[in-house]
Amino acid sequence: MKLLFLLLFLLQVFRPAQGRCFCQVTGDLDDCACDVETIDRFNNNQLFNKLQTLLESDYFRFYKVNLNKACPFWTVRSHCGLRDCAVKPCSDNEVPEGIRSSSHSKYSAEANEQLDECEQAEHLGAVDVSLSNETREALLKWSKHDDEAQRFCVVDDEASPDSQYVDLLLNPERFTGYKGPEAWQIWNSIYEENCFKPFSIKRPLIPNSYQSSSGSEARTFYSWLEGQCVEKRAFYRLISGLHASINIHLSARYLLDDSWFQRKWGHNVSEFRQHFDSELTSGEGPKRLRNLYFLYLIELRALAKALPFFQQPSFKLYTGRPEEDQNHKQLLLDLLQLARSFPLHFDETSLFAGNKKEAAKLKEDIRLAFLNISRIMDCVGCFKCRLWGKLQTQGLGTALKVLFSAQQIEALPKSSNQRPSFQLSRQEIVSLLNAFGRISTSIRELENFRSLLAEKR
Ligand SMILES: *[C@@H]1O[C@H](CO)[C@@H](O)[C@H](O)[C@H]1NC(C)=O
Ligand SMILES: *[C@@H]1O[C@H](CO)[C@@H](O)[C@H](O)[C@H]1NC(C)=O
Ligand SMILES: *[C@@H]1O[C@H](CO)[C@@H](O)[C@H](O)[C@H]1NC(C)=O
Repeated sequence: MKLLFLLLFLLQVFRPAQGRCFCQVTGDLDDCACDVETIDRFNNNQLFNKLQTLLESDYFRFYKVNLNKACPFWTVRSHCGLRDCAVKPCSDNEVPEGIRSSSHSKYSAEANEQLDECEQAEHLGAVDVSLSNETREALLKWSKHDDEAQRFCVVDDEASPDSQYVDLLLNPERFTGYKGPEAWQIWNSIYEENCFKPFSIKRPLIPNSYQSSSGSEARTFYSWLEGQCVEKRAFYRLISGLHASINIHLSARYLLDDSWFQRKWGHNVSEFRQHFDSELTSGEGPKRLRNLYFLYLIELRALAKALPFFQQPSFKLYTGRPEEDQNHKQLLLDLLQLARSFPLHFDETSLFAGNKKEAAKLKEDIRLAFLNISRIMDCVGCFKCRLWGKLQTQGLGTALKVLFSAQQIEALPKSSNQRPSFQLSRQEIVSLLNAFGRISTSIRELENFRSLLAEKR
């Protein structure tokens, strides 16, 4: 018995769980000129705290979302019964007046055509007479923009009575008990039907064939993936990175103690290992983590590229409290400058760089696939997970929209009279920054898991 224990102990020392999760998660990342350690240092020491402060501001914590859309693909059993799945929407008086009134100003495209400038101004005035002329102009310009054709995700109609404000700080992304067949049906349909993969190629580790995975499936899969163009490979890796990030959150905010007198959330190392230990995942875990870093780079790049848009004098983080709004805008600009200063950016010009016609077709394919994935989020049975799923796919969709509109953003008019060729709605802005906040938190949490796994030895 003692001998066995010693043996196990020695085995653990030589192949520690920490190494099995992280040994391949180091050094250069594929398809870009960057390494993991530089990202860790940059995120954990420079960016993380700034971003968290910004996300606590009123502008970014209130997200307007429609959680009651019907799933377009199959019937969904609601998980209202799981209390941790519930999302508590905000009552009207919790959301700052400024945020509410500015979203009223969004007209549909047809309404825009019919109403002339003057009528719109009157209409807006009726919503909130305290808006300054400047703000009113800015809001008008905003509401007039309609760029459906550039979007990579479905944006909920904010004017719909089904859309509600949710306070993201009060509804954190964490373990909800939503797992099993229904949860993996979501991911399965994303990977199987929306990632350009032929049915004949099997993904490694499909949940119900766990035991049968011999390694040859994985080899076939990865050689198929390597044969894909860089864009489709990137697409797959973004989805996998998003999946990894969500699982890191659920492992880091696991419901550890659930008794009548206390509920405690915290790190669950064994849950983390279920997803990321190379031994428990036939070598998949470290790949998932590398995809998370890839996703981080893409979103960071989008933020850097979006800077000129947010620098426009007419852009406001409008909540109706001018001084605070100005400070938060400054904080946002500092953050984006920091993102710009990151030395090893992903080079998105290598994407869609081939033959013009093919590139355009490819971009459209990817846009439509992503759009479809954002629809699948309406099929998530657990509302808490649906909220964060929608927010994160919308954030990533917005990041892609930014990356592929870089030229329009650089060319934004300097004067406020011209009609801008690029626009983001408040919902897109809130989701872009909050989605990046999730990924940034995941990278930060990896550090915690590294030390927890090291302790366990
Ligand atoms: C706002 O605009 C109106 C009409 O253009 C003008 O009469 C008014 O003086 C302006 N108010 C301020 C505070 O600039
Ligand atoms: C959208 O996703 C659903 C669910 O996975 C799938 O059945 C459908 O074929 C997809 N549609 C397109 C256009 O990709
Ligand atoms: C941690 O997660 C595992 C599943 O991966 C579960 O069986 C275990 O009970 C959890 N530990 C705690 C303390 O909740």
